[in-house]
Amino acid sequence: MTEMSTGLLEKVFLFSELNDEELRRVARLTHSHSYTKDTVLFRAGDPADSVYIIATGKVKIVISSPDGKEFILTILGAGQVFGEMALLEESTRSATAITGTKSDLLTLSRKDFNRLLESTPAISRKLLSILSSRLRRANSKMQSLAYMDVAGRLARYLLDLASDHGQKLGNGWVVVRRPTHSDIAHSIGTSRETVSRLINEFEEGFGLVNKGKFTYIQESLLD
Ligand code: CMP
Repeated sequence: MTEMSTGLLEKVFLFSELNDEELRRVARLTHSHSYTKDTVLFRAGDPADSVYIIATGKVKIVISSPDGKEFILTILGAGQVFGEMALLEESTRSATAITGTKSDLLTLSRKDFNRLLESTPAISRKLLSILSSRLRRANSKMQSLAYMDVAGRLARYLLDLASDHGQKLGNGWVVVRRPTHSDIAHSIGTSRETVSRLINEFEEGFGLVNKGKFTYIQESLLD
């Protein structure tokens, strides 16, 4: 376990309003851990004692049906926070967290997280903003599951992916690396074969082009 440098923390949205001294204080409280791909960090229903910040890598947030089918709620990337809900509600974990790639994560203990929220209103404000945008995204996902066919759900998924993790190319297009077709299928409630077929069928005319493991989307289509 090592203390994290403030350089990394200032890129974390949750801490983006903090001054240098406040960042140094947070850095002293966080501990870093490295994980290989497919490590289960915690499972839904587990007791909770810390909040996580992703330094590098990807983390899948997953819920399972009683017969073991997995549904991926979201895939989080560098700078994003998870594991805060159980601490805020004083409850158990609401979902399972699994590393999707080799990942470096920072943790903050329940006690330190609660103290920071009480002492630093800027962190509490950012946390409310994160929770609110997650609720908005979850509503949009519910809407697409209720009303869209699989092609529509896939298009919505790729647009959200590009908004969250895409890189602007400077020519009006955004590029994003897609998760595996199996992970996409588990995020939109369909089969891997259907995702692969639809990815091949998408036409450039829609402002969305799939090439190899990457998807290119016209910037004007994003929120
Ligand atoms: P917690 O309940 O402590 O553990 C699981 C975590 O997954 C949860 O905190 C949130 O950080 C995260 N999580 C749960 N549901 C969602 C969602 N719909 N979108 C994004 N993150 C979520």
